[in-house]
Amino acid sequence: MKVPLCPVAEIPDAGAKEITFFGRSVLVYKVDGRPRAIANVCLHLGGPLQCEGNTFVCAWHGAEFSCADGRRVKGPARSDARLMVLPTRVEDDVLTYVYEG
Ligand code: FES
Repeated sequence: MKVPLCPVAEIPDAGAKEITFFGRSVLVYKVDGRPRAIANVCLHLGGPLQCEGNTFVCAWHGAEFSCADGRRVKGPARSDARLMVLPTRVEDDVLTYVYEG
């Protein structure tokens, strides 16, 4: 299954852009110039995330996660928590969700 998420040209070089994916909030952003997509759900109690520098910060209780790999940096989420990174690739200059299960 493939689902176009966002034209790469619309993904900011810094920060993140919120899009909707099957009714759920997803953040698209870049790490070292490469586009990525994560589910906009904190792994503590499901709060929304904001991109601050190289970190996603939860608006509810302040948990922080690395933008590079989604791992928890600090805060109330479990120490082994990791944000859900969507499997994607760029096709025709569009970041595309690709599921090949
Ligand atoms: S819901 Fe994100 S830190 Fe609590």
